Amino acid sequence: MSLHISASQGEIAPIVLMPGDPLRAKYIADNMLDDVKQVSQTRNAFYFTGKYKGKAITIGASGMGCPSIGIYSYELYKDYNVDCIIRIGTCGSYLTGLKLYEVINVDVACSESTYARYAFDIGGHNIKHQGKAFDIINDTAKTLSVPIRSGPVHSSDVFYRADTALPEIVIECNCMAVEMEAFALFANAKYLNKTAATLLTVSDVLPTKEHISADQRERSLDKMINLALESCLKM
Ligand code: HPA
Repeated sequence: MSLHISASQGEIAPIVLMPGDPLRAKYIADNMLDDVKQVSQTRNAFYFTGKYKGKAITIGASGMGCPSIGIYSYELYKDYNVDCIIRIGTCGSYLTGLKLYEVINVDVACSESTYARYAFDIGGHNIKHQGKAFDIINDTAKTLSVPIRSGPVHSSDVFYRADTALPEIVIECNCMAVEMEAFALFANAKYLNKTAATLLTVSDVLPTKEHISADQRERSLDKMINLALESCLKM
């Protein structure tokens, strides 16, 4: 057990897929894995371990924001000896040319967050994906003919904001979209010398206010989830 995950040693696979939402973790486990066992439900952050095409994979929730994914991913890497975490989430597009349902493989997470500096004395506002997962995902997407984009993404600490102008960091780093977790995940992986990637589906286009409804969200992520699962087979 770790402080926030109640699985026993050996019940978490070396590869973890991490959606934000616990019910999305359950949806993936129920619909896409075989031989599933629920291994943790502390704070309703459900974790499931099962097999995808014979390969052991754990799926569990990160919650929202850098502090939350910071806790779960740190404990998975450190206490459960996990090698690789792939976040599978949603994002808001900053560009009208980046459309609903498009999938992004995050190259660099750019953030105003103090997480990396405060936790590990990692300076700067940009942290890259860590290890080989990013390249494996891009190669897998090519093999499966799934169109994806890669580039810098804003990991924001804030969802609701009074100032409607684009944040400075978005302009500085040329961020294509915004989410709230990749920066802390990449910081933990960098510090602990582990592997981390982030796949995002565009759920909102901020300039036009188009968005995928809550109902549509569940199924609309299947393309990204399949890509993540197929990529796991090569790790
Ligand atoms: N902001 C932050 N995170 C998000 C958004 C957003 O607009 N959409 C999906 N995740």
